[in-house]
Amino acid sequence: MIRLWFGLMATLAFTASAQDGGQLYETYCGACHAANGEGATGGQFPPLAGSEWVDGPAERAIQIVLHGLEGPVEVSGKPFNLLMPPQGAMLPDDQIAAILTYVRSSWGNSADKVTPAMVAKARAATADRSKPWTAPEILKLHPLPKPESPLRNLTSRVYHGEWKKLPDFAKLTAENVEEEHDGILSVTHADRKDHFGIVWEADFMVPKTGEYIFRFACDDGGRIILDGEVMLEVHGLGPMGGGRTQAAKLTLEKGPHPIRIEYYEFTGQEGISISWKGPDSDDWNELSDTKLKPGRKGPPSIPITPTAKRAAIYRNFIQGTTSRSIGIGFPGGVNFAYSADHMAPELAWKGDFIDGGLHWTNRGVGAQSPAGKDVVKLTSEPALPEGSRFRGYQLDAAGNPTFYNKIGELKLSDAYHASDNQISRTLSVDGNGEPVSILISESHAMGSIDGTAKVMPQPDGTTRTRLSGTMNFTVRDKLTLKVAGPSLLEKGPELYLLLAPGESATLTYTWK
Ligand code: HEC
Repeated sequence: MIRLWFGLMATLAFTASAQDGGQLYETYCGACHAANGEGATGGQFPPLAGSEWVDGPAERAIQIVLHGLEGPVEVSGKPFNLLMPPQGAMLPDDQIAAILTYVRSSWGNSADKVTPAMVAKARAATADRSKPWTAPEILKLHPLPKPESPLRNLTSRVYHGEWKKLPDFAKLTAENVEEEHDGILSVTHADRKDHFGIVWEADFMVPKTGEYIFRFACDDGGRIILDGEVMLEVHGLGPMGGGRTQAAKLTLEKGPHPIRIEYYEFTGQEGISISWKGPDSDDWNELSDTKLKPGRKGPPSIPITPTAKRAAIYRNFIQGTTSRSIGIGFPGGVNFAYSADHMAPELAWKGDFIDGGLHWTNRGVGAQSPAGKDVVKLTSEPALPEGSRFRGYQLDAAGNPTFYNKIGELKLSDAYHASDNQISRTLSVDGNGEPVSILISESHAMGSIDGTAKVMPQPDGTTRTRLSGTMNFTVRDKLTLKVAGPSLLEKGPELYLLLAPGESATLTYTWK
């Protein structure tokens, strides 16, 4: 691909004559960075619009245009690892100046203009250079501008002591108190490498009322107190990141909010990272000089868990079901996902409910898998007759959901409760019309019968069963499904419940 670009540029070089920055930009940069500055091919190339690389002092951008850039680089929070070929030999100083002046004042960028004299000086300073810059090389010479810290009136207090858990700093005397005018947290302020603690206090200036997410990691431990309440805590001893990273989401009013960060280091590595994201930011903003590297596992872990008294709900893509799904995690550690598209509970699992990290941090990209174990796929196709419609759901005070569906003139309600190791489901049909068939399993094996079951083979090859009592089935070898309802219909491997208006049925799913 790179060779193709060189060819293209050689042709363009001869046809371009305008000295207008915008036109020169389109000719020499637009193929890769796109006319709108967002990066060509849907952002596979890095953007110049809103890029921190083109902001601030101009020399960094001038050097990149002169000599190119290669290798891993992060632009506006997104990683790239490509090659930008040098443009210096092809473009005279005045054209580079015109292009960069255009880039730095377009698409919302606002940085000072670039003069031919600045380009000439930069060119002379690196005349010996014969290969593209790497990001670390150029950043060492021309660091990126630091965004203004939202921490005002930041003070740090350093303490000495050997702690394996958070001490009561209020009872201790600080060795050292400092004002940190840059508003950045740094563990390098301590005068030793091991056995110390730091307490920072500041006002966190919330730029805009809205929802904020905070992410906290430290080596070893600490906590963040915002508006007088503990927001996040990392316990014990251990490295930064990985499974120890904590996150919280909360709504904050615009204006100052007192924040206090308590931190302790036992031995070994040390570090603290607090990053935040507001209603307007796609990227994480750091409050600390250490940046939390995104783990190989991707987004941070933000487990969503039910409380002792109330089920948790999660409305987002869940792996293994359709895109409109509603996850419910019950207090006893049983969970299911209801597909609003198929009007059925499609997945059931035990243990942990789900991790919200992916969708809190990534704007809903991708589907999240259930966090627990023993996942059972119940059905994977529409459970109600064609033309049926999902009409929404209600939660009771304990978070137990009831889903509503419309089937022609009939209304189906489908209510869920749970206890240890089992989920029970009550279906009832209201209105006037023919009995409705509701798919309840795609793969089952007949178990025992309590009571009587009148089995009636039908001419079309299906089997109807009239129940007075309960019937037990095994679903995918993992669950026992107990059906207490009027009639069942079996079509090959598929099992349907037949409900006439006024009738109801109870289904109980128990893990083996
Ligand atoms: C052949 C494609 C190509 C052309 C032409 C090109 N660039 Fe780039 N540019 C890239 C790539 C690819 C990177 C990232 C390199 C990496 O991954 O290390 C980049 C990076 C940059 C960066 C730093 C990162 C960023 O996105 O802010 C700047 C600034 C930049 N280019 C400006 C320009 C300007 C100005 C021109 C025109 C004079 C230009 N580029 C022409 C491909 C190109």
